[in-house]
Amino acid sequence: GGLKPFYNEAMVDFTRADHRAEFPKQIAAVRAQLGKNYPLFIGGKEVKTADTIPSVNPAKPSEVVGVICQAGTKEVGDAIAAAKSAFPAWRDTTPADRAQYLIKAAAVARRRAFELSAWQVLEIGKQWDQAYADVTEAIDFLEYYAREMIKLGKPKRVGNAPGELNHYFYEPKGVAAVIAPWNFPLAIGLGMASAAIVAGNCVVFKPSGITSVIGYHMVEIFREAGLPAGVFNYTPGRGSVMGDFLVDSPDVSLIAFTGSMEIGLRIIDRAAKVYPGQRNVKKIVCEMGGKNAIIIDDDADLDEAVPHVLYSAFGFQGQKCSACSRVIVLDAVYDKFIERLTSMAKATLVGPSEDPANYMGAVADDKAMKTILEYVEIGKKEGHVLYESKVPSEGYFVPMTIIGGIKPEHRLAQEEIFGPVLAVMRAKDFDQAIEWANSTQFALTGGVFSRSPEHLAQARREFRVGNLYLNRNNTGALVGRQPFGGSAMSGVGTKAGGPDYLLHFMDPRVVTENT
Ligand code: SER
Repeated sequence: GGLKPFYNEAMVDFTRADHRAEFPKQIAAVRAQLGKNYPLFIGGKEVKTADTIPSVNPAKPSEVVGVICQAGTKEVGDAIAAAKSAFPAWRDTTPADRAQYLIKAAAVARRRAFELSAWQVLEIGKQWDQAYADVTEAIDFLEYYAREMIKLGKPKRVGNAPGELNHYFYEPKGVAAVIAPWNFPLAIGLGMASAAIVAGNCVVFKPSGITSVIGYHMVEIFREAGLPAGVFNYTPGRGSVMGDFLVDSPDVSLIAFTGSMEIGLRIIDRAAKVYPGQRNVKKIVCEMGGKNAIIIDDDADLDEAVPHVLYSAFGFQGQKCSACSRVIVLDAVYDKFIERLTSMAKATLVGPSEDPANYMGAVADDKAMKTILEYVEIGKKEGHVLYESKVPSEGYFVPMTIIGGIKPEHRLAQEEIFGPVLAVMRAKDFDQAIEWANSTQFALTGGVFSRSPEHLAQARREFRVGNLYLNRNNTGALVGRQPFGGSAMSGVGTKAGGPDYLLHFMDPRVVTENT
């Protein structure tokens, strides 16, 4: 009790001089701390390893953000053992008490919000507003799941037969492996981990290798919040060395993963096998990719549609599972829309995200750069270039790219690129647009710009994605307001930041007493 109702953390406000001043100040402060060595954190203790890898600024790869110790199977085994031994006491801590640790962690993150954002600008190339939004989303997850767990922590009385008392309540599953992506390095990592933790599980956390310094901030946040030893363990490591070991462990009961479809399906496959000594059927919470479309109807308000499509496709370089990667434009409005979209694209700059003049920054790493550039070449063969920006010579930059002439059978219409490449498709009418929008293996986000109530109603019924946005951009789901996640090959139907999410991290029990 005593908590105010949940509300979303306020976004950064660049009309305020103090907010504008914070970014250069915090980026300079962070820059003074670059290159430090980061240990693992196992059972409440820092652990150093001989094996390390550097994490670099993608806009300036010569700048080493941090040098991160790498867990091998020995360290992952130790972390699983630490989580297992911390579990009974954590399970038996009341849900309300567990929730208080999340509230304290939220306060730490709130106090450090600008500094945590500055790290994201340098380690993964987020624009100022994108970085800050990741931090506020992380705070939202902590505040929201704390309140949800307090609600779920009260046993519910079910049934009404005389002489019988039935209580329905939830228990945690045990050790949770949490495997996080780099694109929302604090929000998604902390969101999955805090859900597991507040539900009473103990976590072995693997951040992405290219955002492991941000991953380490979770150690700092949970330590300052006073979380008991062993409840949160931090084990960055090479996926090829320790990924399967973590997933295969008979002591892991739950795996929460956000990342590519290939890895997600691999985890689901491996987790199906039961090893000697294993107690639980492994539960998988899995968020994967998207090939998200926005439909531009012939009566769409282009003053709205153009900036929203540009932002959805190219905000944070298109590296969001929610990003718009196909825009399906009705024939009647095609020329007008494309003319306006490309002229707005031409007015934007591409360059390091630490300079707020740049609309788009560097992509995640050299591997991402190479893959995305390959798709640009494929796109040039399948369709034709409508716009391709210039890029700086240093850093992992790929041009802002808009490709026209794409048809549903093209690779550019089917495969997730995870970068700043927008495929444009020309549809003869709204029915065809909906059919094309649904024609991929994914079902994550989608959007429609239309002034026709009939078409909006049709989209509600027939545009089958987890998060559908009518007359707005299709990224930036807010905790509590747009519970986020997809179905089909986009995920197993869990909604982060929604009322059902914590249920996936627990087992329900019923106790019946004959009274
Ligand atoms: N939740 C993010 C968004 O909505 C994607 O992971 O953009």
